[in-house]
Amino acid sequence: MKSKIKELLEKGVLPTLEKVDQLFHNETNVEILQSPNYQPGKITVKDFHEANRQNYSTMRNFLMNRTELRSAVSISRTSQIQEKKVTVIAMVYDIAKLPTGTLKLTLEDLSGKMTAIVHSKNEDLIDKAKFLTKDEVVGFIGGVSKGVFFVNEIIWPDIPQQIIPTTEEDVYVAFLADMHIGSNMFLKEDFESFIAWLNGKVDGVKHKDMAKKVRYVLFAGDVVDGVGVYPQQDRELEIKDIHKQYDLLIDYIKQIPKHMKVVICPGTHEGIRLEEPKPKIPKYLAGDLHEMDNVVLVTDPALIRLHHTEKYAGITVLMYHGDSFDYYINEIEPLRLAGGYNKGTEVQKYFLKRRNLSPTYGGQELLPMKTNPLIIYQVPDVLHTGHIHKSDVSTYKGVLCIASSCFQAKTAFQEKLGHHPDPGKVIILNLRNMRIQILDFTNT
Ligand SMILES: [Fe+2]
Ligand SMILES: [Fe+2]
Repeated sequence: MKSKIKELLEKGVLPTLEKVDQLFHNETNVEILQSPNYQPGKITVKDFHEANRQNYSTMRNFLMNRTELRSAVSISRTSQIQEKKVTVIAMVYDIAKLPTGTLKLTLEDLSGKMTAIVHSKNEDLIDKAKFLTKDEVVGFIGGVSKGVFFVNEIIWPDIPQQIIPTTEEDVYVAFLADMHIGSNMFLKEDFESFIAWLNGKVDGVKHKDMAKKVRYVLFAGDVVDGVGVYPQQDRELEIKDIHKQYDLLIDYIKQIPKHMKVVICPGTHEGIRLEEPKPKIPKYLAGDLHEMDNVVLVTDPALIRLHHTEKYAGITVLMYHGDSFDYYINEIEPLRLAGGYNKGTEVQKYFLKRRNLSPTYGGQELLPMKTNPLIIYQVPDVLHTGHIHKSDVSTYKGVLCIASSCFQAKTAFQEKLGHHPDPGKVIILNLRNMRIQILDFTNT
């Protein structure tokens, strides 16, 4: 897209600062495509039951799009099938590892349950099966003998290959998360260096000219540290009043140039419910954020589109803080072996392949909704998460996977868990060529 500012300059018109600001505003836009809104009310067992059924049929529909699974039958019909090859789409009800290394699965669909075996001799399949987790809906191809299903192949819903549209000129997006403002570990000077950089005020930092072209600044949660999030948190708080934590956040957000759009989703520490979907940061905690023209508050998770103009289709970003990361890093051995908390994008790939930000019921506290807010209905161009405090960038089938760093030094809790946060980094994406740069704002 040829900039209107460039066009004016070519015509010999020198735009005023107000005009530049206005033109930036016109071209800089954020659309909210999905922002699940849960209306609090009385929840009954029936609601969970219904949500579970709905979850199964949504995932089954994704799987039925896979050519290999088109002939899938219900579990109750498997015993009547004469052919050697049997295909089912089922929820993993239970996983048991036998002493021989063979896996005994209990599979369930709306017609019933059955036992399935993944034999230890099939090493490739066992390696794949190590990724299985309870409650996920998966395609299985195998054969039935005496009422037992012997698995030969496991197929996840997966995503189709994506092609991300690009702009004609430099447009930068900054990805951040986890400042934990209010914590005594908040890296104030480093974060202030980032804000100063956005304002073109920092000398000696590389890529100064890039700052002028930043048009979007995305925060994927844990922007404040909150109060009472874990026992004795007050000992680790510099600011013990959550309203004052938000006041400081608002001060910083106000310092971000107005031609940049700021998007904030909540995380684990914002002083709102922990169940997902989490509502956007409410007015009673941060009223000023609701009044600012360049600030967009979204739920967790939320799907947004940036920079949709006449000539550019825009780029979609799925923002998710990442509370469910803990469960899957803990439960899925291959994710730990791939780097665990140090390789956030491996967890992101795991989610994209399952089209679900938490395939196990209870992997993340979830409110029963007709449409599960954690299912990835529309494949995004970018998946942006926080929570693990370490930057990591990768791609999966064309989707750009971005795990953000933090602006909080290592806490005693993280030390105890053996985590290795890598604070002070900001990931910058150029929409012109999808190039990523990780800028370091640490002052020490
Ligand atoms: Fe955090
Ligand atoms: Fe978090």
